[in-house]
Amino acid sequence: MVVTPYHTYLKMQTAGPVEKPDHYHNAERLAIDEIFEEIPKDARILDVGCAIGLGMKYLESLGYENVYGIDLDERKIRYANEIGGIQNIMLGDIADFDFADMPLFNVIYSSHCLEHAYNVEDAVRNMSSVATDDADFFVILPYPNPNPSPAHWSTPVLGLDINDGGVTVENWFASRGFVTTGIKFDNYREPEIWMTMVKE
Ligand SMILES: C[S@@+](CC[C@H](N)C(=O)[O-])C[C@H]1O[C@@H](n2cnc3c(N)ncnc32)[C@H](O)[C@@H]1O
Repeated sequence: MVVTPYHTYLKMQTAGPVEKPDHYHNAERLAIDEIFEEIPKDARILDVGCAIGLGMKYLESLGYENVYGIDLDERKIRYANEIGGIQNIMLGDIADFDFADMPLFNVIYSSHCLEHAYNVEDAVRNMSSVATDDADFFVILPYPNPNPSPAHWSTPVLGLDINDGGVTVENWFASRGFVTTGIKFDNYREPEIWMTMVKE
């Protein structure tokens, strides 16, 4: 087998524990409560980097009827299916996953995933291509993160290592066709930036 840089990346991304500590999931629930306040229950939602699907499960418990996830870690999807009873998760890399003829999504939600992307440029382009023109994008990222772990591959690309009140990361998304409608900083899980965006 030829070991490409992507193989090395994938091995690193899928080496950690399948489950996270409870406070990590509490933090995600708090973010969802706030961010999804005005989203109608029939919205088609894609959770990018959904891991074992606890965010999806919480969204469903709030009454959301059309919740899908994607993750590149097969172990987590199996856990979600078998232990969590959560279906609707696609296995793949958001950067090149073929959504084929799936209907477009009204909300793209991604919590602590894009900093892991191997190719964040393609990841964001593909996220945008499966979203309706008026879709909401909710992105949560570790911020500021001046000393990222090697698994946080795209931190420097996104500018998450630069502590400037989110200006660099906002500009990164702006030059890819996104308008930021809200930014919040939070510390419950770890220092984070919560961004709400729409397409230009
Ligand atoms: C730190 S976990 C975050 C889980 C959950 N969203 C949360 O906030 O608790 C990041 C997840 O993103 C997934 N991931 C990383 N890069 C990805 C990519 N390019 N495409 C799809 N999933 C990815 C990882 O496998 C992992 O399950």
